[in-house]
Amino acid sequence: MYYTIIKLVEEAEKKIKAAKNIKKLEEIRIRYFGKKGKLTIQLKYIKQLNSYDKPVIGDAINKTKKALYKKLKQHNALFNKKTIKNKIAKEKIDVTLPGRFGEHIGKLHPITHTLYKIKKIFSNIGYTIVNGPEIEDEFHNFEALNMPINHPARAMHDTFYFNDKYMLRSHTSSMLIRTIEKHNPPFKVISAGKVYRCDSDLNHSPMFNQIEGLVVDEVVSFSDLKRTIEILIKVFFEGQKIEVRFRPSYFPFTEPSAEIDVRIKSSNDWLEVVGCGMMKPNILKRLKINPKYTGFAFGIGAERLTMIRYGIKDLRTLFNNDIRILRQI
Ligand code: FA5
Ligand code: MG
Repeated sequence: MYYTIIKLVEEAEKKIKAAKNIKKLEEIRIRYFGKKGKLTIQLKYIKQLNSYDKPVIGDAINKTKKALYKKLKQHNALFNKKTIKNKIAKEKIDVTLPGRFGEHIGKLHPITHTLYKIKKIFSNIGYTIVNGPEIEDEFHNFEALNMPINHPARAMHDTFYFNDKYMLRSHTSSMLIRTIEKHNPPFKVISAGKVYRCDSDLNHSPMFNQIEGLVVDEVVSFSDLKRTIEILIKVFFEGQKIEVRFRPSYFPFTEPSAEIDVRIKSSNDWLEVVGCGMMKPNILKRLKINPKYTGFAFGIGAERLTMIRYGIKDLRTLFNNDIRILRQI
């Protein structure tokens, strides 16, 4: 038996030495040291050996086993290193290669451009920017603006209602009320955002953007309002030949009120771009503003300004998201 084991050990050692890869080594491990491995089986008989042979055989088996595991470990490490290296080589990306579909760099939507530009114009003349909710309650969207339930002016806005109390705001004028509730005059604020009306044709979209402005101070007059709108139009349409007209109008919360139309010089079509007026004193009074203060407010249509600026005939093309058209703009 002694010789059987020694022979097996020698055989195993030879094979371990010759093994060149991890697969071979693993085969050897299973063949000799696995559960039913040749040497594993022999181990059972060791106790039958005499006390002189026992340690010799034990030693020989252990040494072989150790040598095998050492080599396995080395190969394993090598294998891992190789695998990682291969993987990295395979997955390497040349970030300097040009894109497969040509280079299209993303740009801001024309409406976003307009909103940025208008915000900047007003920031430059001292206005603060405030934001408010698109889901509005009946009080801020209508009632506080002198439009109680059943007031005919509510019909001018085809409003999307959730229920009796809540709706998608139909104009940013709800922000006039929210601002007066929160801030003490004097102040100059603007608030830009989406508004919603059940409206759709060349000049109307069910979702559009307004920029609301409000100035409350001790001596503000209609001529201040007029001057403000003139500055806006002049700076916004810089380099374009534009005509502007102020037209008397009606809003339940302003008196006097006006709407402003704009057109490209010597074209026939005027386009309404702004609604505005002097805040009615009863609104300020209801919100506990000292009567020494007066105010003016305006609501600008961002899509309309964009249409004229870029010569767009149908404002809905701005929202069809046809990238070819947007890119032209
Ligand atoms: C208002 O919404 C008032 N809240 C404006 C206002 C503010 C008056 C402060 C007085 C004081 P109007 O419904 O006219 O007014 O809308 C204002 C502007 O929004 C219009 O001049 C137009 O430029 C734009 N607008 C209105 N409806 C649409 C629509 N469906 N699609 C695109 N733009 C629109
Ligand atoms: Mg109007």
